[in-house]
Amino acid sequence: MSDIQFEIGKKPYSAYHMAKAPPPQPDHVLVKVGPGTPCGELMRRYWQPVAMRSKVDIRPQAARILGEELVVFRDLSGRYAVLNKHCSHRGASLEFGRVTTQGIQCCYHGWHYGVDGTVLETPGDPEQSNIKEKICHGAYPAIERHGLIFAYMGPPEEKPPFPNFDSLNLPGVELVPYAIHHPCNWLQVHENMMDPVHAVFLHAKMGNVQITPNWGEEPVTEWGEVNGRTLFYVATRRLGDRVWVRFNEVLAPNFAQVGGFWASGYQQSLFSRVGATRWTVPGDDTSCWIFGFRHFSEELEAGGFGNKNLIGYNSFDVYGQTGGRTAEEMQRNPGDWEVEVSQGPIAVHGAENLALSDMGVVALRTNLRRAVKAVEKNQAPPQALGADGAITPTYTSNTVLDLPLPAASDDVELRRRVGRFVVAEVVQADGYPPESRVEMLRQKLATIASRVLAGEEPPACCRFMSL
Ligand code: FES
Ligand SMILES: [Fe+2]
Repeated sequence: MSDIQFEIGKKPYSAYHMAKAPPPQPDHVLVKVGPGTPCGELMRRYWQPVAMRSKVDIRPQAARILGEELVVFRDLSGRYAVLNKHCSHRGASLEFGRVTTQGIQCCYHGWHYGVDGTVLETPGDPEQSNIKEKICHGAYPAIERHGLIFAYMGPPEEKPPFPNFDSLNLPGVELVPYAIHHPCNWLQVHENMMDPVHAVFLHAKMGNVQITPNWGEEPVTEWGEVNGRTLFYVATRRLGDRVWVRFNEVLAPNFAQVGGFWASGYQQSLFSRVGATRWTVPGDDTSCWIFGFRHFSEELEAGGFGNKNLIGYNSFDVYGQTGGRTAEEMQRNPGDWEVEVSQGPIAVHGAENLALSDMGVVALRTNLRRAVKAVEKNQAPPQALGADGAITPTYTSNTVLDLPLPAASDDVELRRRVGRFVVAEVVQADGYPPESRVEMLRQKLATIASRVLAGEEPPACCRFMSL
């Protein structure tokens, strides 16, 4: 038997033995999200997007979020609400209800609920009935931001302020909301955000060039963590006489930002900002939504590739982010959606063979486990907040520097130093006054090429994990 176990997965033609081995298991701590589960409780400590305003403004929307059946609506006073979907009377769905100035009325017998779940009326009952004083319908606090409806589904006494990310308040940047369904567990979709290696292959080398050919250049990649809350990677590519530094980040538990998609790399740019901000929100253990914002500005879309008219419900302007293409197209030119969904309803971590280049995935899982444990111990999980309502600086950006490779230089080492310089300057800019942070930061970034060529070492700012 021990011989057979030794052969499994290590010798050619071993599928017979693999098929008989005990099935490997998913990581239940991280993939289960229902009420009372470890990761479900973690998720519930954050504001989570649950619906698009453009849908909710038309009529109530049923939403399955974190394994719970909800209805999201806007009452006629303009307040957004997230209530349990099934009426507290006899369970009809409130998605068929009628919105009122005070809330929503169930279509079946007219029970009337306020946005906080208060039962306002039970009109089918006789006057002497006092049932409405005895019960309250399930409700969660809801707010609208930039076209998405967010709910807080955790313990009321632990409700955090809504984070004030700098990237969602930039002058000259238009945010276009979107929502994309994935019939698979949330974690395998979110993990893609810490997997820069896939960008080289999936997006440029294996099928068509899906974004720009520059994505196919092998980067020098490092991962790191800042302040115990931001996990990032920095991928630094050489494009002729220029060096392109792509800096992306994730925050626990399910927030991510990616830099502008169309950085051509053929013109200098300094701290060009976010292409998309996104939350990967579990519907249940085997489905999830990416809710997010595509960012549009003259700088981000200088090449004219983005198309805001394509952004919306199950619709995106970067190839491969949604389902619905033909089977042939999916096979000829698979995108992020295909690879993530094809990992199965729940990716089985026990069946993986993680490589060195998966260190971002490993770090993401480690951070999640740490945050899960904090909640289990009744400690506060990391929140991406400045002091009470202050702007939270985020780091996601593209920087392209003029930096020809000097003769007899090691380009891998040079690019590693450039990447670390960019990270150090961006992180140090946390301490700058918010109103002048970007300008001061850009001035610093403009000096990196000469400092690298002068042999200066990047300032220490955080721990790096390197390939
Ligand atoms: S089931 Fe909703 S009012 Fe009766
Ligand atoms: Fe991707």
